Amino acid sequence: MSSYRYPDSHVFYRKLSHEYPKIVRGEGCWLIDERGKRYIDAVGGAYVANLGHSNPEIANALAEQARQFGYISGTQFTHGPVEDLASELAETLPVDLSKLYFLCSGSEAVEAALKLARQYWVDRGRPSKHRIIALGPGYHGSTLLALSASAREAHKAPFRPWLVDVHRIPAPYPYRCECGGRSATCPVCSAGVLEAAIEQLGAENVAAFIAEPVGGSSTVASTPRPDYFKRVREICDRHDVLFVADEVLVGMGRTGTWWAIEPYGVTPDILTLGKGISGGYAALSAIAAPERIVNVVAKAAGSFIHAQTFSHHPVGCAAGVATVRYLKQHKLVERSAKLGRVLHEKLAAIAKLPYVGEVRGRGLLAGIEFVADTGTRAPFPRAKKFAERFSDAAIDAGVTVWANVGHADGTNGDAALIAPPFIITEQEIDEIVSRLAQALEATIKQQ
Ligand SMILES: Cc1ncc(COP(=O)(O)O)c(C=O)c1O
Repeated sequence: MSSYRYPDSHVFYRKLSHEYPKIVRGEGCWLIDERGKRYIDAVGGAYVANLGHSNPEIANALAEQARQFGYISGTQFTHGPVEDLASELAETLPVDLSKLYFLCSGSEAVEAALKLARQYWVDRGRPSKHRIIALGPGYHGSTLLALSASAREAHKAPFRPWLVDVHRIPAPYPYRCECGGRSATCPVCSAGVLEAAIEQLGAENVAAFIAEPVGGSSTVASTPRPDYFKRVREICDRHDVLFVADEVLVGMGRTGTWWAIEPYGVTPDILTLGKGISGGYAALSAIAAPERIVNVVAKAAGSFIHAQTFSHHPVGCAAGVATVRYLKQHKLVERSAKLGRVLHEKLAAIAKLPYVGEVRGRGLLAGIEFVADTGTRAPFPRAKKFAERFSDAAIDAGVTVWANVGHADGTNGDAALIAPPFIITEQEIDEIVSRLAQALEATIKQQ
């Protein structure tokens, strides 16, 4: 068996100091490597494999489309998969978000959403509106505008001269807020800081506010107060600022409703979709926008000025259609809510273990925040790499998690996110919990 690490292979790996197990097969919620070791995929790779692995219906849909035609340009033709996917998604989305533009990654979707917001204001004859406001902690992707909107200092540092100045306000993060998310008058938890920021920048200069409805990898499955996005909506409306909901991670049923914004009872102006929308069977993302925005662009420039060769890709869209129909037919969003309750009940056992500050989340999204001191909530020093060591220990224990770092104060902060496929069973949740406990024990022993 070869060794899969840099520089032994020709692959420019994502981690250059890491030896990779080679996966040869997926079976539902499980991955199997070439040595026969089985891993329960408790995070669906990167919150992506929502239907589990090797689903024959999705595989057939991709193959069938590839047999008909692989690629055509969205500038010249339309085709069945793109028409069907737009209709299927529009049925699930907040009511006026009825126009869908397809891309290949979450970063591209964020990039496109923010560019659409900007083009909308230019086309409406208000070209001074260009500033973006975003949350910290916050993560929206790695291309330059999406990275600018993100609050990941370590990811931004080398590229700073190329980044756009995005105005940052503190994210609602109950575990780390003095009010604990309990105060309706807390400026952070009630979005008062958003209004202050718009006033400071001048509403005539602000194009958009972008936020995740539930903090995915940024505040680790943290859920803002139930009135937070109502306030955001009111403030954005009052100041003519577009509200972009980034649902790349938390959308498509992950938090137990089709869209994570739903329980807040508000509709964003633009919504980004990605990760699970094709169940990971193809690289697919999208933005959803209302006619009132697209009409402005249609009348002025005639199109959204955002050319990408692979947008509206037939095979990607075919994977999306098969995924959305599978979710609907098998009621998997409802299952995400139901099994999500089981997951959170069972994770209560992890919440009692040493160095676990909080376990939180909604639906089949759970965050485990690790702290050096559960009383004071002080994080571990970053140099200890607690989250990374936990994630490695989890792989040893045969379970995948996503390590999150830096959320406590921009540098320190260790957490793991859990986001299993929606087909997960109760027995498999037990398996996840017991392997997580094993991984935590191993992480603590290494200290
Ligand atoms: C909320 C959010 N937006 C955007 C992105 C970027 O998506 P991608 O990695 O597919 O480019 C991510 C990725 O994790 C994300 O969590």
